[in-house]
Amino acid sequence: MSKASTLTPAGRSGAPRAREKNAPGRVVIVSNRVPSPSDKTATAGGLAVALADAVTPGSLWFGWSGKRADETSAKAHTEISDTNVTYATIDIAERDYQRFYNGFANGALWPLLHYRTGLLRFNRPDFEAYRTVNRAFAEALLPLIRPGDLIWIHDYQLMTMAAELRALGVANRIGFFLHVPFVPPSLLQVLPPAAELIAALSACDIVGFQTAGDVSAFLDNAAICLGVQPDNAGCYLYQGRKTRAVLTPIGIDSDKFAALAETAEQTAETIRLRESLGDRALVLGVDRLDYSKGLPQRFDAYGRLLYAYPQHRRCVNFLQIAARSRQEVGSYQTLRRELDRRAGDINGEFSDFDWVPLRYMTHPVKRNAIAGFYRTARIGLVTPLRDGMNLVAKEYVAAQNAANPGMLVLSRFAGAADELTEALIVNPFDPDEVAAAMHQGLVMPLEERQARHAALLAKVKHTNARRYCEQFLEYLRDDQ
Ligand code: ADP
Ligand code: F6P
Repeated sequence: MSKASTLTPAGRSGAPRAREKNAPGRVVIVSNRVPSPSDKTATAGGLAVALADAVTPGSLWFGWSGKRADETSAKAHTEISDTNVTYATIDIAERDYQRFYNGFANGALWPLLHYRTGLLRFNRPDFEAYRTVNRAFAEALLPLIRPGDLIWIHDYQLMTMAAELRALGVANRIGFFLHVPFVPPSLLQVLPPAAELIAALSACDIVGFQTAGDVSAFLDNAAICLGVQPDNAGCYLYQGRKTRAVLTPIGIDSDKFAALAETAEQTAETIRLRESLGDRALVLGVDRLDYSKGLPQRFDAYGRLLYAYPQHRRCVNFLQIAARSRQEVGSYQTLRRELDRRAGDINGEFSDFDWVPLRYMTHPVKRNAIAGFYRTARIGLVTPLRDGMNLVAKEYVAAQNAANPGMLVLSRFAGAADELTEALIVNPFDPDEVAAAMHQGLVMPLEERQARHAALLAKVKHTNARRYCEQFLEYLRDDQ
C-alpha cells in the first residue's frame, strides 16, 4: 500500500544549491518512466527493472506519470511506497509528448544510437519539444532537491536535463547513465544538434555507459564537438566544469531472479507451457517489439534451423514473446506487420497437422511467468542487432536449473556479450550462423552446458544490479 504526500520544497532562495560536504544526501533518480509503487505487474523495459531491484529506502524517484494532459504539470505529484521510496511524477502536455517521445527521442535518438541512421527522422520542432520537456522535468524537480542530494538522471530521453538544472542554479553532483549504446563521431554527426547534446551532457559530473566501447565513443565525440582533451581517466574540462565518463554496466538482482524462477517452475503458466510442449525442446525469445532486437532476422534464423537441420523438425518449438512498444512510431508499426508476415511464412512452410513450429505473441507476460518460461527453455535466443546491455540475457542465465541448464545464444552486438563470453556468440545478421548456434545448443552434451552455465552465472552474479548502483554512486559521490 502506498500513500500520497507532499514534499517540503528545499529552499527556493534563488541562490545556487551548494553541496554540503558532510550531508548524507538522498539519491534522486530521474527517468522518463517511473514504475508505479502500487502496480508490481509486468514491466517491459530494462531501466525500470534494474533500478527497481536496487533503489534504497529514503530515495526519491522522479519522472513522467505516464499521463498525457492538456498542460505539463508545474508541480510533481508524490507518493511514498511501503519501502519508503518517494515517487514524484509529472504529466506531460499532449502537444509536447508527441514530439518529445515519438518524435525526437524515439524517431531520431533511438535509431541513431542503435546504428540505424536510415530510420532517423529529424525535425527542429521535435528537438525543441525535447528540450521543453527536459526543462519542465528540471523545473518540477527543482523544489524537491535538497543540498547534498545526488541527482542521477537516466537514459536518452533526458540528455539535456542536467544543463537545464545547472541553468536553474543547481550545484549538486549530477550523474547521467545511458542505458542504450553510444555511437562514434561519424554516426553522431548525422544528428544536427549533436554538439548541443554533448555540451548538455557535460553539465554532469559523471556520465556512465554500458561498455568500454561506448565510453570511448562518447569521449571521441566530446573531443570533436567541444575541442576538449580527455585524460586517461576519462575526465575533461568544459566551461570550468570537470566531467568524467565511466564504465558501469547494468545488471539484475540475480539471486532474487533465480529464486523467482525456481518457484515459477510450479506455477500454472509454466506447467501449462510444459504440457503444451510435450517432449519438444523450447527455444525462447523475450523482447520488447523493437527493431533493435533483430526479430525478423531471428525468425529467418529459426526457419534456417528447420530447413538445414531437419532432425529438429517436430522436436522443437520456438516461442517469441514480443511485447508491443512505441506503437505510435511508424517504424514500429512496419516491424509488427513484417513479423506477422514472417511468422505466417514459417508456420505455413513447416507446420504439420499436430505441430506448429513458431508461437508468436505481442503482449507482455508477468515477470514470474517469464522466469518460469526461461527455466523451461532449452535455448534462450537473445539476438539484437544492437543493444546497450540486454537484461533478458542475464535473466535467462540466472533462471536456469544448474543441474540441467539451457544455452544462451547471444548477439555479439549486445553490451552483455562483452562479459557473457561463454554463451554461443553469434552475428545476428547471419541467419545460418544463428541456426548453427541453435543446433549446437540443442545437441550440446550436459557437461558442457553445465560448465558454460557455471561460468556465465558467476558473471551475472558479480555484475549485478546492486554493484551497478554502488559503482555509479561511488563515482558520483567522489568529487575529486
Ligand atoms: P530494453 O530495455 O531495450 O527493453 P532489456 O533486455 O535490457 O531491453 O530489458 C527488458 C526487460 O523487460 C527485462 O527485464 C525483461 O524481462 C522485460 N521484458 C522484455 N520483454 C518482455 C515481455 N514481452 N513481457 C514482459 N517483460 C518483458
Ligand atoms: O532501456 C531502454 C528503454 O528505452 C528505457 O529507457 C525504457 O524504460 C525501456 O527501454 C522501455 O521503453 P519505453 O519507455 O519507450 O516503453
